[in-house]
Amino acid sequence: MENMALLNIKRFALFFVFICCVACNIVTEEGVEIEIITPPANDCVQIKTGDWVSVLYNMTKSCGKTLESTYNIGSNNKTVPQEYYFGVDSRNGVVIGLAGACKGERRKLLIPSPLMSRDPEIAGDTLIYDAIVADHVVAEDKHRLREFWSMDWNTDQYIDLEEIDMALSREGFLENILQDNSGIENMSDMIIGVFDKDGDEALDRDEFFEMHRNINISKPEEEPPTTVEEPESKRRRRKRDEL
Ligand SMILES: *[C@@H]1O[C@H](CO)[C@@H](O)[C@H](O)[C@H]1NC(C)=O
Ligand SMILES: *[C@@H]1O[C@H](CO)[C@@H](O)[C@H](O)[C@H]1NC(C)=O
Ligand SMILES: *[C@@H]1O[C@H](CO)[C@@H](O)[C@H](O)[C@H]1NC(C)=O
Ligand SMILES: *[C@@H]1O[C@H](CO)[C@@H](O)[C@H](O)[C@H]1NC(C)=O
Repeated sequence: MENMALLNIKRFALFFVFICCVACNIVTEEGVEIEIITPPANDCVQIKTGDWVSVLYNMTKSCGKTLESTYNIGSNNKTVPQEYYFGVDSRNGVVIGLAGACKGERRKLLIPSPLMSRDPEIAGDTLIYDAIVADHVVAEDKHRLREFWSMDWNTDQYIDLEEIDMALSREGFLENILQDNSGIENMSDMIIGVFDKDGDEALDRDEFFEMHRNINISKPEEEPPTTVEEPESKRRRRKRDEL
């Protein structure tokens, strides 16, 4: 009688573990196991192919030996992790395991080693990749991020009046276009006036992206042609047909 009850409890426990695994851990068809440690915000924008992401991570072997980490890099145990961006394109274990994640989300991935590298040191092992998505820039905004970086001379993540003036004088054509079209003398004042939503006299990244969407900053030589030219050979052929 007692044994029966125990067995039932065991069964129930097993069932519960099973349910929990199904609910919390996803295994992709490639064999990457995903555990979501810190779930994303409700209104989050999911990572998709072509986007740029920056992650803070520790990658270890199954025995715990660190293979790679964005923490404690350099001489003085930096706690501010090194930040870099990578494109969500190539199909390695990290990219597979981070698909659909959002900024702020923390995931722990168990990655079969062939999905990462053929290094004999890790052959046959399952790697543990514990990562926080620190930043995410959608594919449509990648060129805006590049522009933002190129204008942010002091790399404080803000574009201030001085940096706008520098960019305008560096790209004189832009200053001319904007002034011709608007008749406004001091463009930087105007830009800050319109796009600095929080009134700190500088554009943060979101404000900059918003400006970039509204003021069409595209170099004249980069403008796509309004009509697509036919290849030379085709045009010649038609001429001959007409003769
Ligand atoms: C860095 O961290 C290690 C281990 O946590 C410690 O032994 C070492 O003293 C630290 N070094 C510095 C420069 O803080
Ligand atoms: C990575 O390891 C460092 C210390 O070694 C820890 O502070 C940090 O929280 C870990 N980060 C992740 C995403 O696992
Ligand atoms: C525009 O105004 C800003 C701030 O008032 C000033 O720093 C900047 O020199 C002015 N730029 C031009 C081109 O007059
Ligand atoms: C920006 O300008 C280019 C070329 O003038 C044009 O093809 C494109 O549609 C414009 N984009 C926006 C968002 O206005």
